[in-house]
Amino acid sequence: MASSITASPWWKTGVIYQIYPRSFRDANGDGIGDLQGIALQLDYLQWLGIQALWISPFYPSPMADFGYDIANYTDIDPIFGTMADFDHLLQEAHQRGLKVILDFVPNHTSDLHPWFVESKSTKTAPKRDWYIWHDGKPDGSAPNNWKSVFGGSAWEWDAHTRQYYYHGFLKEQPDLNWRNEAVQEAMYGVMRFWLDKGVDGFRVDVMWHLIKDTQLRDNPVNPDYTDNQPTYDQLLPVYSTDQPEVHTIVARMRQVTEAYDARVLIGEVYLPIQQLMMYYGAQNDGAHMPFNFLLVRLPWQPREIAATIDQYEGALPAEGWPNWVLGNHDNPRIASRVGEPQARIAAMLLLTLRGTPTLYYGDEIGMRDVAIPAEEIQDPQGLNMPDKDLSRDPCRTPMQWSGGDNAGFSPATPWLRIDKRYPRVHVERQRDDPFSMLSLYYKLIQLRNTEPALNKGTYMPVYSNDQLIAYRRDSPDGDSFLVVMNLTPRPCRYRQTGEPILSGQVIVATSPELENTHIGENIYLSGDEGIVARLARTDDRPTT
Ligand code: NOJ
Repeated sequence: MASSITASPWWKTGVIYQIYPRSFRDANGDGIGDLQGIALQLDYLQWLGIQALWISPFYPSPMADFGYDIANYTDIDPIFGTMADFDHLLQEAHQRGLKVILDFVPNHTSDLHPWFVESKSTKTAPKRDWYIWHDGKPDGSAPNNWKSVFGGSAWEWDAHTRQYYYHGFLKEQPDLNWRNEAVQEAMYGVMRFWLDKGVDGFRVDVMWHLIKDTQLRDNPVNPDYTDNQPTYDQLLPVYSTDQPEVHTIVARMRQVTEAYDARVLIGEVYLPIQQLMMYYGAQNDGAHMPFNFLLVRLPWQPREIAATIDQYEGALPAEGWPNWVLGNHDNPRIASRVGEPQARIAAMLLLTLRGTPTLYYGDEIGMRDVAIPAEEIQDPQGLNMPDKDLSRDPCRTPMQWSGGDNAGFSPATPWLRIDKRYPRVHVERQRDDPFSMLSLYYKLIQLRNTEPALNKGTYMPVYSNDQLIAYRRDSPDGDSFLVVMNLTPRPCRYRQTGEPILSGQVIVATSPELENTHIGENIYLSGDEGIVARLARTDDRPTT
């Protein structure tokens, strides 16, 4: 094993694990996950080898969007526990060497947040300008054509003050006016509140939505819209999102974060590669990591994936550190998108590419999207556009810890149904099974954590075709790994053509039977197989 002194920050070398707190573990028996429940599972997370947990919102909220509608930024919703529970969780995590990243939702508040209550009380209220209010058009219609991500117009009429307010998401989530300095200061204060407590960073919700066009110009029609897309996609959100001034705000958030030691600023940004790169900041003064959702969105096609990895690598600014995401609480789970066998390949890809991986709870045991009957749908995105099958509930079902009652998630009936397969798909069972998804994740994470070639080495594309992707990861001190993955169910051969022919030993494979075997000129993989091989050092190779 290589032994270089590491100067890299923790968020570059470690794996991030996302927890959706409603669904992770319920300690108080009300059927909803909570902070004490997370604390109960810290030993598991430590065993798994992750570096940081990112927890989706747990602040006081009417739960119109399950916590992404915040009524108080500096407290805990009683559903999730108390501030003492949070302090305990943070302390326990830190004791285990785990970092804690909070979800920061600065774009909008709940409509029940005292700021909005004041803002809508009268047109002359001191906080009126904290939100985006506007007169209607002369005919009384909304100020422009902007749409809400969750369906319908993004403008809500307030009969009391006779103006519209803007909400990019639900009408219960009014957007803050980030052009107002007082709003900015208040929100930086929120960040400092949690940083002072010792949290290790933030994942910033919808970072690219923060600033809107001052003239509120109409968004243009999307010429490529098809009926099965969300209604939001009917327009191109060129005036309502990704405005140039957003980068000044992100730079200020970075300054607030960096006033503290070793903290991280991550941005949720769904944009094409070139626009995404802007969020690193022109002077490396933006987000440390704008989330990279390429693997979440791309068709599972090796040539396309290989080309996109290169596009992403090639577009990164000099100081920009890459990152990869495979799933989250807003998107179908990887096992349901690509099927279970390929979900193993996806794990290998996520954990061997260059850059910080973010892993969504449950993916490590191959949890799939669960069919939720119409009458049980809870997600507003699903309820608002019932004909489009957009509910995010299927990827938010309770974690499957054991084969016991309610999968060991809760003694009570859970808030959302659990996958019926849980008696055979759960952590307890997979921990002891060397062939399980969890064992594969475990091995890949351990390898990544211990090998500088994998956690900070270079990335070098080697080959791709309609079946496979191959790339190398090399550390400056001479350690190298070759990753070869078959992204199809059919067998394939990778014949090395470069000079010299690489040889080495398989360290981790999706089929454990391949581990410890040697690789040479021809690498044969059955369907859905992938390998990570340690390459023999040039000086180890026979000189014949
Ligand atoms: C992005 C979050 O990930 C999603 O869950 C939420 O509904 C929207 N932002 C609105 O906050």
